Amino acid sequence: MAEERTTALIVAAGTGERLGGDVPKQYRAVGGKPVLRWAVEAMARHPLVDQVRVVIGSEQHELARTALEGLDVGDLIEGGAERADSVLRGLAAVGDGRVLVHDAARPFCPPDVIDRLLGALGGHDGAVPVLPVSDTIAKGDRILDAPVDRARLLRVQTPQAFHVEDLLYAYEEAGRRPATDESTVMLAAGLQVAAVAGDPMLEKLTTAADWERAEAIL
Ligand code: C5P
Repeated sequence: MAEERTTALIVAAGTGERLGGDVPKQYRAVGGKPVLRWAVEAMARHPLVDQVRVVIGSEQHELARTALEGLDVGDLIEGGAERADSVLRGLAAVGDGRVLVHDAARPFCPPDVIDRLLGALGGHDGAVPVLPVSDTIAKGDRILDAPVDRARLLRVQTPQAFHVEDLLYAYEEAGRRPATDESTVMLAAGLQVAAVAGDPMLEKLTTAADWERAEAIL
């Protein structure tokens, strides 16, 4: 049987308010290139990825066209106010097969992470990259409350691998409750998601310090 088509769906429609400034973080440069361009190139380079599609904000056409000049991403897809809206609009444009939903704000995806994800997707409803937690984790506000046992805690990254039909089903089942990623939606729908080894290179760029760290690594 022929391999299913695999699409990398990069969601870039956020406004990146936490960092401030007038350009959303995914369009800012790191190592001389827009963050989104790095993200697209990393996915497009993988031999098992057949196509890359990008979801952008309605005000971001000009920024995206400039950032992606010369790259093959098909028509740009307009996202929505919530992440779920952006992903659902992206899925509608993707069609059948496997999808790797990926944050534009994570520019450097090592190829072996994609190998592990697609390998695990063969035996599970979904697969996500995770890293262990190395800090002490506690609840609290200005005064520490109870510590949390970190032994079973995982930091969940993207890309996240699913079959398009399963993810659509999960979004339908889970309703439109705000979710920070797709694994949350899959679990809410009772589906099983495998955890594979993530990578520190997949850290999301959020703060000015993240930019400095990324520049230093590059
Ligand atoms: O804000 P946060 O960093 O969690 O966003 C994760 C990813 O989801 C980013 O790449 C952002 O551009 C994307 N996003 C989106 N549509 C939204 C909100 C976030 O595509 N409405």
